[in-house]
Amino acid sequence: MSAKIRYAVFPVAGKGTRFLPATKASPKEMLPVVDKPLIQYAVEEAIAAGATNLVFITGRNKRAIEDHFDVDPELELLLASKDKDELLDMVRNTVPPHVNCIYVRQGEPLGLGHAVLCARPVVGNQPFFVHLADDLIDAEESCLGQMARVFEAEGGSVLGVEEVPRTQTRQYGIIDAEPVAEGLRRLRGIVEKPKPEDAPSNLAVVGRYILTPRIFELLADTGAGAGGEIQLTDAIARLLAEEPVFGHEFNGLRFDCGSKLGYLEATVHYGLKHPELGPEFRQHLRDMAF
Ligand code: G1P
Repeated sequence: MSAKIRYAVFPVAGKGTRFLPATKASPKEMLPVVDKPLIQYAVEEAIAAGATNLVFITGRNKRAIEDHFDVDPELELLLASKDKDELLDMVRNTVPPHVNCIYVRQGEPLGLGHAVLCARPVVGNQPFFVHLADDLIDAEESCLGQMARVFEAEGGSVLGVEEVPRTQTRQYGIIDAEPVAEGLRRLRGIVEKPKPEDAPSNLAVVGRYILTPRIFELLADTGAGAGGEIQLTDAIARLLAEEPVFGHEFNGLRFDCGSKLGYLEATVHYGLKHPELGPEFRQHLRDMAF
């Protein structure tokens, strides 16, 4: 098995009910943080980590994602005729030319585990990234890039993890793990969305995974779990009985853009960092006297 990871899977079939009515007709992954949709940040992170094949697991009302990463000859002609070179470059390079986009439709919303299993015919017998665009991570070295280094060194599946307040364990997959190195743990167990009193720790899986292809076989016979859905976490719990699975505490700042508050926090963070808008936006926030 090659150590380099070339496939990245983006489960994007979810409904985004927490952002209704904004997400009634357009995908939650297309919500912009300042000037880029969430899915664009996701794709850039995976490409920076070495992915060259992007597999989107889509569903109803998600065509805007395909259009976003496709060429738009009319728009390009228009921008070229107005000498808007910078914008032209931007719309041409939503994905670089060496990267393939592959779309697989998840017919029924059967859960994250099922969405990942839908990638099997494309990914085959390769290790792969899974990226959940809701979790936006600002890091000097991309989170998936950090995890790819762990994968190359250790050879097992790697999950991005972060400490969360105990009161929030119900929102995450929570790991039980023993430390093996600075920021690295080997999993003994994992549970999906435990109550705080049942949680084995307060280390939560955020939306970043490197998985070996064995996960597909396990997912294929994993039944419905928490919330009546086929859970990726349940298949990982079985994987770690056969192969090493690691939790990597990444360096970086995560925003939960699946929640309105997290999304607003991300907008402020990226707004302040924005090369053109940053200084003026900072001044504006000061003037608001927070
Ligand atoms: C999913 C996973 C969960 C993980 C979380 C990270 O849950 O099932 O294990 O901790 O993503 O964001 P969801 O947020 O889709 O409910």
